[in-house]
Amino acid sequence: MKAYRAAVLRFTDQGEPVHAAAFEEDGLLVVGPDDSGRHKVQAVGAYNALKNRFAGVAIEHLPGRIIAPGFVDMHNHFAQTNIIGSPAEGLLPWLENYTFPEEQRFASSDYCADAARFFLAELLRNGVTTALTFASCRTESVDALFSEAQRRGMRLMTGLCLMDRHAPQGVLNRAAPDGSRNATEQSLLDSEALLQKWHAKDRLGYAITPRFAPSCSADQLRGAAELAARYPDAWIQSHVAENKAEIAWARALFPASRSYLATYADVGLLRSRAVYAHCLHLDAADRDLMHDSGAAAAVCPTSNLFLGSGFFDYAAADRAGFQYGLASDIGGGTSFSPFHTMLGAYYAGREGQTKQGLSLSPQQLWWQHTAGAARALGLAGTVGNLVPGCEADFVVLNPQATPLLARRTACADSLDELLFAMVVLGDDRLIERTVISQAS
Ligand code: GUN
Ligand code: ZN
Repeated sequence: MKAYRAAVLRFTDQGEPVHAAAFEEDGLLVVGPDDSGRHKVQAVGAYNALKNRFAGVAIEHLPGRIIAPGFVDMHNHFAQTNIIGSPAEGLLPWLENYTFPEEQRFASSDYCADAARFFLAELLRNGVTTALTFASCRTESVDALFSEAQRRGMRLMTGLCLMDRHAPQGVLNRAAPDGSRNATEQSLLDSEALLQKWHAKDRLGYAITPRFAPSCSADQLRGAAELAARYPDAWIQSHVAENKAEIAWARALFPASRSYLATYADVGLLRSRAVYAHCLHLDAADRDLMHDSGAAAAVCPTSNLFLGSGFFDYAAADRAGFQYGLASDIGGGTSFSPFHTMLGAYYAGREGQTKQGLSLSPQQLWWQHTAGAARALGLAGTVGNLVPGCEADFVVLNPQATPLLARRTACADSLDELLFAMVVLGDDRLIERTVISQAS
């Protein structure tokens, strides 16, 4: 066992509101292995209240620091690191001009391994300890990312990007080399083989990954849904209702469905552990479908602002009661930093609200990128919080990391002011250390 003495931020996750934070100015976080050997939170609370109980445990004292849950990024693309900040009129030209050409390069194992190393190092450097990530349409990219996450002991879900149409050949799924199977069949067989190889190994999870309806044939979507039905604890990830031109395209390709979102529902791709990125242009029936199916939205504010896609409507999502959390959407998104994503969500929340003038509180923003995101992924009580039983993934924040942060946080008169100062002024410099739960 090991203990850390510092200020500690966690979420009560009980009662109302669900995002209420608890903050110990002088706290103690005790971590140690459970029966499986995985390091979990054993106790957390005020130092004075816990010090006698854990008198024999080595304590690392971190004066002036804040320990907080590791961040959970609900949606990003590891094959898009090199195209962050590529300007385009909107989503579809951005995909065509930058994204697909770059993703074509994720066919070589060396290229994939180098990108996976950089991507996970960058997530961790920014305090992200759990991610649901798109790989490319090549099995090499999935193996590379899982291998690197396993080496680091990180909790990560990814899967083979399913796309069998409407993109250059090099970025589509491939037919079996001997010609015995077409690309659609082969992509589904590859997905199942990768799932069996990686799902629930250590802290890894497989995500069945139809890119979005316009890039998948009806057969491929149906095949993905059949696979999902056979593996109910696997994840599903896709995109929906991000951009007006994308929506018109999806509607034209699947005219029999009531809406773009319904295209996925009609084949059986909406359920708990199904995560749909964006969900900007939904109507009330779509939001009810999200709620009733148990699917979750990954809200990607920096991407939506950068690509001019629109604004997530938090008030409408809350009225419908479906689950959502925050995501970087690298590389449509502009930053690996959860602070930038939370600030983007604050700006976007002002624009997208149906109730004028309201936006999100700092506790809501922080919760949506930690415990709330974990809950939306079906991982409540496993990651995203620092309460007993959670895996011991956490960040050590240094609020003195820059002169301005030091000056502003010293003036904070409340927890909300302190959190807001870090959301607005924070970036990778605020993350002094990222600690990943050990397996002993
Ligand atoms: N829709 C389909 N593919 C993508 C992607 O890679 N990024 C974003 N932002 N939207 C998508
Ligand atoms: Zn995306």
